[in-house]
Amino acid sequence: MNGRLGVLGYGQMAQSMVRAWLDGGCLQPEQVVACVRDHARAGALCQRDGVAVGVDLRPVLTADHVVLACKPQQLQTVLEIRAALDPPPREGQGLVMSILAGVSLGRLQAAFPRRPCVRAVPNIACRVRAGLTGLAMATGVSPEQRELATALFAVLGQVEHVNEAQMDAFLALAASGPALVAVMMEALADGGVAAGLPRVQANTIAQVMVDGSTALLRKEQLAPSALKEAVCSPGGTSIAAVAELERRSFRAALMDAILAAQRRCRELG
Ligand SMILES: NC(=O)c1ccc[n+]([C@@H]2O[C@H](COP(=O)([O-])OP(=O)(O)OC[C@H]3O[C@@H](n4cnc5c(N)ncnc54)[C@H](OP(=O)(O)O)[C@@H]3O)[C@@H](O)[C@H]2O)c1
Repeated sequence: MNGRLGVLGYGQMAQSMVRAWLDGGCLQPEQVVACVRDHARAGALCQRDGVAVGVDLRPVLTADHVVLACKPQQLQTVLEIRAALDPPPREGQGLVMSILAGVSLGRLQAAFPRRPCVRAVPNIACRVRAGLTGLAMATGVSPEQRELATALFAVLGQVEHVNEAQMDAFLALAASGPALVAVMMEALADGGVAAGLPRVQANTIAQVMVDGSTALLRKEQLAPSALKEAVCSPGGTSIAAVAELERRSFRAALMDAILAAQRRCRELG
């Protein structure tokens, strides 16, 4: 990427993304200028990551491109702080790439009328560059800017272009999904312990079993139902386990969990 990248909010997600961009060689440390609220944290992050981190919005807003990475609930305050800057900053005309859950392109574009806006929904696996990011572009985004945003997020893993109307659904599945998988793996390991395995071994088994199952699904391009059928022999152990899940409405609980995440995403916007 050419030019400077302003990062508004340098928390968990922004740090993972910037680190991956630096490691991937598409950004140099001197191109990044980030801001947080807390002076002491800014100093520590600056020292740790070798990028400029301060508490001033101005250098972030005047950078060529901006990543918005505060919490959605913090956006209003950020905009009020920006409106009170005297003299007003000379903002650039490059992209605003927002990762704020639930905040629509319409709201972003109204807040940054001079800049073309992109709404991005990355997930936490971006930290190890095995992420998944949904991207939706405002109408003013040029083909070159679309390519730039796609290339930046592709460094973090797979990119899916998504209609904005489907962004909440994408977020619920792709970005909240890792929490559901983690809860499921924790519970599976607990089951292993209940069945008599030592804790550490149960955790390892749950992890390797999930890794292997997803590798098989991917390599053989199997539908999940085909994998289930392949494992469940007549009158066997696996179908007994599946029957127990069905009695407890496991599938309905997962479907409702995704719908709850989607509802919450809409509330946050
Ligand atoms: N976590 C996920 O898996 C995930 C997935 C997809 C999208 N997202 C989205 O990513 C965004 C960030 O999430 P996160 O978990 O990284 O949050 P976080 O760790 O709380 O980071 C928020 C950052 O914003 C900064 N900030 C807040 N108000 C500010 C202000 N007025 N001026 C300057 N900086 C300000 C905070 O500064 P301080 O550190 O000083 O408080 C902090 O660095 C959210 O909008 C979320 O919806 C998260």
